[in-house]
Amino acid sequence: MDINTVGVVGCGLMGSGIAQIASQAGCNVVVREVDEAACEKGRGKIDKFLGKAVEKGKMSEDDKNAVLGRMTFTTDLADFSSCDLVVEAIIENLDAKRELFGALDGICPDHTIFATNTSSLAVGDMASATKRPQNFVGLHFFNPVPLMKLVEVVRTLETSDEVFDASCAFGEKVGKVVVRAKDSPGFVVNLLLVPYLLDAIRALEAGVATKEDIDAGMKLGCGHPMGPLQLLDFVGLDTTLYIADIMFHEFKEFRYSAPPMLRRLVASGRNGMKAGRGFYDYSKK
Ligand code: CAA
Repeated sequence: MDINTVGVVGCGLMGSGIAQIASQAGCNVVVREVDEAACEKGRGKIDKFLGKAVEKGKMSEDDKNAVLGRMTFTTDLADFSSCDLVVEAIIENLDAKRELFGALDGICPDHTIFATNTSSLAVGDMASATKRPQNFVGLHFFNPVPLMKLVEVVRTLETSDEVFDASCAFGEKVGKVVVRAKDSPGFVVNLLLVPYLLDAIRALEAGVATKEDIDAGMKLGCGHPMGPLQLLDFVGLDTTLYIADIMFHEFKEFRYSAPPMLRRLVASGRNGMKAGRGFYDYSKK
């Protein structure tokens, strides 16, 4: 099962990174966004990231142009009709994802593998919207996709061995280390990361230390690239709350329950870096 043509649905933070690394690995990539303006914005993100790589001397201008040249942008799902793999990176909404995969099922050939980049929803709940649950996997990348070295490849009860192996091979082809996981809430990384992030908020709420000291403690004491409150701002407080609520709903365990401070910050729009404010203030940057 060779994967040479890849479709990516959604060209936001995650989709743009996935499209970029697939093209960098030599695949032809079709990217779908809702309208021309969103296509232009997504292409701009990739152009900017690759431009930085050229500036840093990590890529030549010719290679950058080749990567962009292998990508086409469209607003029409019908353009996915020749894809070997379609990766979905749209909003974390089960109904929207099921509707998308249902539509793709009627467009893509039988061999096409469908993958979701969901970080918290059940992969099997999306696969059941199609007539090809055996061809369905989770491909969970990490932000920023071109820099983070991991992909979780997730199999459902129905995923075939052949499709799972081909999906793992694709993860390696795009330069990632593959971790294999079953379709369990949070897979491996969020199962462990989410309680850690929520506990950091609980520590702040309890007045154990200042946010700066909590972050410095984990950065310097454990060698993490970012402290937990910085990482929360980076991932997005709204995203984290959403994931925590789904995991709490699944497990009914306190460690997945969102602390009141997280809810209050999200309610007031302090969603982290992207909003200019979360635990820290980014408005002047
Ligand atoms: N092209 C190529 N390389 C680039 C680049 C570009 N455009 N931009 C940066 N780089 C390289 C840099 O050259 C540098 O490489 P070297 O180490 O070889 O010098 C490296 O990437 C790091 O870049 P910076 O020095 O600019 O930035 P940094 O050191 O501050 O690192 C970071 C930034 C990679 C984001 C780092 O802070 C980090 O790893 N943070 C943690 C991120 C994380 O945990 N993400 C996962 C979140 S959870 C998630 O995504 C899943 C979910 O479901 C919630």
